[in-house]
Amino acid sequence: MKDYLIAPSILSADFARLGDEVNAVLDAGADIIHFDVMDNHYVPNLTIGPMVCEALRNHGISVPIDVHLMTTPVDQLILDFAKAGASYISFHPEATAHVDRSLQLVRDQGCKSGLVFNPATPIHCLEYLLDKVDVILVMSVNPGFGGQKFLPSTFKKLEKVRQLIDDAGLPIRLQVDGGIGVDNIRRIANAGADIFVAGSAIFKSPDYAATIHAMRAELGQQLTKNH
Ligand code: DX5
Ligand code: ZN
Repeated sequence: MKDYLIAPSILSADFARLGDEVNAVLDAGADIIHFDVMDNHYVPNLTIGPMVCEALRNHGISVPIDVHLMTTPVDQLILDFAKAGASYISFHPEATAHVDRSLQLVRDQGCKSGLVFNPATPIHCLEYLLDKVDVILVMSVNPGFGGQKFLPSTFKKLEKVRQLIDDAGLPIRLQVDGGIGVDNIRRIANAGADIFVAGSAIFKSPDYAATIHAMRAELGQQLTKNH
């Protein structure tokens, strides 16, 4: 059985009730929490920073928090989010002058490092970086907003990255983000992904548990007592 992880994106949660919303998706069976950071510079939208991450930790959230930086630059935020309790920190290679150094900075803080590729971004920089990444995140929409449609060009990219990871024989996770729901998660898994970010599909659904269970059923995952 493949170890698939479901990562609800709190971008689509009710921010006025954020702690409760995170507890609700965890009770519904989510594995990790995806935390979208937007700076109104790298992307047009503006969201949340390290203080909110720390507030979730203080609220008792103990599962991994997966920080997706859609910001430029990234190095100071890497330090701040590590201090605020982040578990994974991912950034876009074009958002930092020294990708290798920023990846190392993430690991030096004891966090898992991730590199994110937009739909139009080629993946060739991975050639010299595979030993520095714990997660490769393939964007299946253009970053900045929840609720967009999954771009079909993602399938080919996922297959390519999956091949790279398997050829290298490294324990790198392949994450995918944007436009994912019950109806397409199986095909996306078939292309090689193993961490699925889903915002609107979960938070805009009337029953979080039913949606997450339906995703797991599509993935052929056993429903355990935690799921
Ligand atoms: C987009 C964000 C995503 C977003 C996904 O820039 O990185 O994490 O929340 O939302 P959905 O699942 O609604 O496409
Ligand atoms: Zn994201």
